[in-house]
Amino acid sequence: MKAAVLNAFGQPLSIEQRPDPVPGAGSVVVDVMAAGVTGYAAAVFDGSRGYRLELPAVPGPGGIGRVRSVGPDATRLKPGDWVFCEPTIRARDSASDTILQGWTYRTDAALPLHRLYRDGSYAEQMRVPTENVTPIGDIEAADAGRWCGLSRLLVPYGGLLAGALAAGETLLVSGATGGFGGAGVAVALAMGAGRVVATGRNRRTLDELAHRFGARVKPVAMTGDETADRAAIAQAADGPVDMVLDFLPREAALSQVHANLKAVRHGGRIMLMGGVRAALDLDYNWLMHGEITLRGVWMYPPEAVPRMVQMVRAGLIDLHQFELSEFALDEANAAVAHAAAHAGPRQLTVLRPDILHRLSGA
Ligand SMILES: NC(=O)c1ccc[n+]([C@@H]2O[C@H](COP(=O)([O-])OP(=O)(O)OC[C@H]3O[C@@H](n4cnc5c(N)ncnc54)[C@H](OP(=O)(O)O)[C@@H]3O)[C@@H](O)[C@H]2O)c1
Repeated sequence: MKAAVLNAFGQPLSIEQRPDPVPGAGSVVVDVMAAGVTGYAAAVFDGSRGYRLELPAVPGPGGIGRVRSVGPDATRLKPGDWVFCEPTIRARDSASDTILQGWTYRTDAALPLHRLYRDGSYAEQMRVPTENVTPIGDIEAADAGRWCGLSRLLVPYGGLLAGALAAGETLLVSGATGGFGGAGVAVALAMGAGRVVATGRNRRTLDELAHRFGARVKPVAMTGDETADRAAIAQAADGPVDMVLDFLPREAALSQVHANLKAVRHGGRIMLMGGVRAALDLDYNWLMHGEITLRGVWMYPPEAVPRMVQMVRAGLIDLHQFELSEFALDEANAAVAHAAAHAGPRQLTVLRPDILHRLSGA
């Protein structure tokens, strides 16, 4: 099979022939139909992101495929099934040891798992743990790239499930102008949020979110002045904020983080999903008397995948919200450069091993 291989950090991906993967007990092999390329893939491959990834490797965190062959213990999956391949693999003997297939491992203890599933989806075929493969039902092959949008939507869905967002509630999405924050707005509306206060610095993107999703979205442009930002959030919320979903990146100023988190009501929930590295300055007494839940959330539980597929199938989530750019596997390096240059919240760059030349959609 053909694969894009990262032989050394800082080198371009090399298109090579690799042996076809073979399924064993607990795994299946899929024909990869579409694999998402993130805006920061270039930073992973040049080493500047500092991701732990043993080389050489076929990178690629999950995607959309069709089952090619199954291991002896598969009970339902069968060749030809369209599936979503989930990249988060959890060790069977410890929930704290996780890897992202084809992407990175987090702890030293997870290294054996990484070595088993180091190769990911930037290839014609990929071996995946059976439990990481979820049927999505029949789709048109032409739509495979669009279904990669599931990866973007599932991350904020994990936070919204962890915080148990209920219909009618007011949610504040901090970092709503980013890829995952913007997806969080879409998912919260699909889950029935009554009002979504969307905050970020980029006014154009905020206005676009409000225009696209309608009156339930209340955009608030952050100025960096914590007092003024808190007042603007309170005005937009026009009532208690039941939950905050934070997706701010590591560059964000703490004043912006605090302005958003402190908007939560008595008894409310704060879900931290962003990349902030600095220590938060949150008052013990405010948390205690406010009976506030503060929780970190990484990715999403396995049951989120079939539920998200149902939301898409029910028309609650429209995958056409993404602007799609699709590249052939031979064009993997062009796809990585394109994704870095087009890292907007709606942009989706995808590798399609089944096509020969770049397609740009939307
Ligand atoms: N918990 C998880 O499971 C999980 C999974 C994936 C990613 N993440 C994390 O989620 C974060 C967001 O990822 P993403 O892909 O959505 O990022 P992104 O698309 O690059 O968006 C980041 C947003 O942050 C804002 N931003 C950039 N620089 C800023 C600054 N100096 N101060 C304040 N805001 C700034 C930008 O909005 P404005 O220009 O409007 O400010 C941008 O829209 C990352 O840190 C990532 O590591 C977490």
